[in-house]
Amino acid sequence: MKGMIIKHMSLKVGQTLTIVGVAKPDATEFALNIGPDEQEIAIHINARFSAHGDENTVVCNSYQGGNWCEEYREGGFPFQQGEEFKIIVELSPSEFLVTLSDGSNIHFPNRIGSEKYSFINVDGDARITSISIK
Ligand code: GAL
Repeated sequence: MKGMIIKHMSLKVGQTLTIVGVAKPDATEFALNIGPDEQEIAIHINARFSAHGDENTVVCNSYQGGNWCEEYREGGFPFQQGEEFKIIVELSPSEFLVTLSDGSNIHFPNRIGSEKYSFINVDGDARITSISIK
């Protein structure tokens, strides 16, 4: 796992994570990953400008037992190279509710089922300017 790792912060059921950043001018993709530890990802939110055969698509998935699981492709694509973005993630017992800056949502199941995730990482072509959990 590369990129920025956020330590001493965890996302618990009922809480909302708000992350603001700037996509690199030549960004091909970046991802916000949330999970129990470095080995498992409960939700991977991957903004693909042009990556893995996708153009301007958000792909969500989990990574469990060493494998990527079933992908979700929902929501809009309110991201632009070189521009600021905001992603809001709310955790409930059953799902992650992701809200993008165009108001579109992604309902992604809480497959691992934990009530608290302590590993938060941002990987790829973005620079994070602010992160808060409330
Ligand atoms: C793969 C990609 C991973 C991850 C995964 C999500 O193709 O290599 O980085 O985005 O898709 O399903």
